[in-house]
Amino acid sequence: MLASLCLFVLLVVSSSYGGHRQDTLADEELARDRQPSKWGSLWPLPQRVNTFDVSFKLAAASFQIFDGKASSAGPSCNLLQNAYRRYYKYIFGGIKTKWPSQDKWTDFPQLSGLQVLITDPDSECDLYPSVTSDESYELLVVQPFAILKAPKVWGALHGLETFSQLVYEDEFGAKSINWTEIVDFPRFAHRGLLLDSSRHFIPVKVILANLETMAMNKFNVFHWHIVDDPSFPYMSKTFPDLSQKGAYHPYTHVYTPSDVKMIIEFARLRGIRVIPEFDTPGHTQSWGKGQADLLTPCFAGSKPSGSFGPVNPIINSTYDFMSRLFQEVAGVFPDDYVHLGGDEVDFSCWKSNPDIQRFMEQHDFGKNYSKLESFYIQRLLDIVASTKKGYIIWQEVFDNGVKLKADTLIHVWKGTKQQYQNEMANVTASGYQTLLSTPWYLNRIAYGQDWRGHYTADPQDFQGTEAQKKLVIGGEACLWGEYVDATNLTPRLWPRASAVAERLWSAKNVTDVNDAYDRLSSHRCRMVERGIPAEPLFTSHCPHEYKGI
Ligand SMILES: *[C@@H]1O[C@H](CO)[C@@H](O)[C@H](O)[C@H]1NC(C)=O
Ligand SMILES: *[C@@H]1O[C@H](CO)[C@@H](O)[C@H](O)[C@H]1NC(C)=O
Ligand SMILES: *[C@@H]1O[C@H](CO)[C@@H](O)[C@H](O)[C@H]1NC(C)=O
Ligand SMILES: *[C@@H]1O[C@H](CO)[C@@H](O)[C@H](O)[C@H]1NC(C)=O
Ligand SMILES: *[C@@H]1O[C@H](CO)[C@@H](O)[C@H](O)[C@H]1NC(C)=O
Repeated sequence: MLASLCLFVLLVVSSSYGGHRQDTLADEELARDRQPSKWGSLWPLPQRVNTFDVSFKLAAASFQIFDGKASSAGPSCNLLQNAYRRYYKYIFGGIKTKWPSQDKWTDFPQLSGLQVLITDPDSECDLYPSVTSDESYELLVVQPFAILKAPKVWGALHGLETFSQLVYEDEFGAKSINWTEIVDFPRFAHRGLLLDSSRHFIPVKVILANLETMAMNKFNVFHWHIVDDPSFPYMSKTFPDLSQKGAYHPYTHVYTPSDVKMIIEFARLRGIRVIPEFDTPGHTQSWGKGQADLLTPCFAGSKPSGSFGPVNPIINSTYDFMSRLFQEVAGVFPDDYVHLGGDEVDFSCWKSNPDIQRFMEQHDFGKNYSKLESFYIQRLLDIVASTKKGYIIWQEVFDNGVKLKADTLIHVWKGTKQQYQNEMANVTASGYQTLLSTPWYLNRIAYGQDWRGHYTADPQDFQGTEAQKKLVIGGEACLWGEYVDATNLTPRLWPRASAVAERLWSAKNVTDVNDAYDRLSSHRCRMVERGIPAEPLFTSHCPHEYKGI
């Protein structure tokens, strides 16, 4: 499994562990005498922000979020109307204190509403977001109402989140906002989060809660590592036995077609793409339960041992199966890309099988099983390309020299810092676009503030030309599921994933970890106030603590 290599890294890191006091002293030092960030609680930090010492009050009873007259997305744009309601609730929902009386209230300058204006004739309201979506927006908070301008709905969604982050409670608990000017757009187009629903089943409502939290952090890709060795929870219409026999339970631990539809639409309404991963030829033990002859029979000496290895690459039925499965997947998941995995293929079973040995000889592969893997992947890529999808693959497929379509995305996940930087350099030198995950394996946990390490990693930090750097289109935080289920997924993920979110959204020079600490502490409290059990960064308290279960 992908996590195994990282366990080694973890052991190396934890050998320098210095005990409770030493670990926290440095953090206590940092927490002392701290000035709040001049950027308030904005997270991720927008590209350009101007704030002024002029504040306005927001009255829940009269405040409105409304469409600008010239907007190309009017009342019929469900995506925006939905977002207006969501953000109205986030802004005013947490109110506990009584408002100042109406008379006292009118002494303060007020902000009466937020006007939202989609400026491009095609708002993309009914489309799915893509890697080329325009996510930019401009926000001007002035009287009598704030103005949010965006070419497309995707930018408006981000702008609504930013607006909600500007609202704070004054000393009387009244909702307030300062005169502010913001111009914003993401540094990287692909800002992903991987969740693994095979090692443990993740209930639909937990996935939805995390999509909601992703939107609060301006993540825009849900990489759904939906199946793997331990279980196959995806319910296929073409091959119902895959989940019937391969899921932990055929009724309670599966994603039905309507679950999947709901997740995709929920994500779309938040500007998030859903990219499923169907990882082969390794990581497929659960597939074999519902699909006879798909996996390679392993041999002990001259007899089958009864166990099975990776997908059997030498029989035609394998490719017929893959064609039909990916035909279905292409129809179910609207995104332009699927993730095809291709990592960590164990060759020992292939080596033991006499039919495979014969096939190797016939094809002049010698003893090089990478060539057999490449033979398989090559045919799979052709199958997927014929469904008109692009593909993402883990770095091993590139390392093994498989011929790839020019628009293939190579996902880098292995090695030390030096090794992944070399890999990024090699992948981009070959002209491929790439995504980085190595420094962002959030399933690895350590005592203390490990988010700081996640925060300081930069995906463009490697030896290469400007053209090579441009091929880095983003990265993904990964939460592998060995030790994670509904009980601990959300607090383990947030706010640690938020560190990655800012690295992928904000300008390259936003690197002040102390300033980030202040903003992230407040951002974490805001997630808590919104009902997300995001864990604390360090000794602290929130104005509105988690209400719990
Ligand atoms: C907002 O404005 C008030 C003055 O009305 C000022 O005291 C405060 O520092 C400002 N806050 C920010 C984040 O600029
Ligand atoms: C498998 O397919 C190939 C090419 O489509 C064909 O040449 C070959 O005869 C087939 N093998 C079997 C066993 O059907
Ligand atoms: C095995 O084949 C791959 C190409 O698929 C090649 O890159 C690699 O160098 C080969 N390994 C050996 C040991 O020959
Ligand atoms: C990158 O390429 C260089 C030279 O071609 C090679 O020496 C190095 O091993 C490669 N690095 C990786 C991580 O593949
Ligand atoms: C980053 O650089 C820009 C342009 O050079 C500058 O305006 C901005 O203040 C810098 N931001 C930070 C946080 O240093």
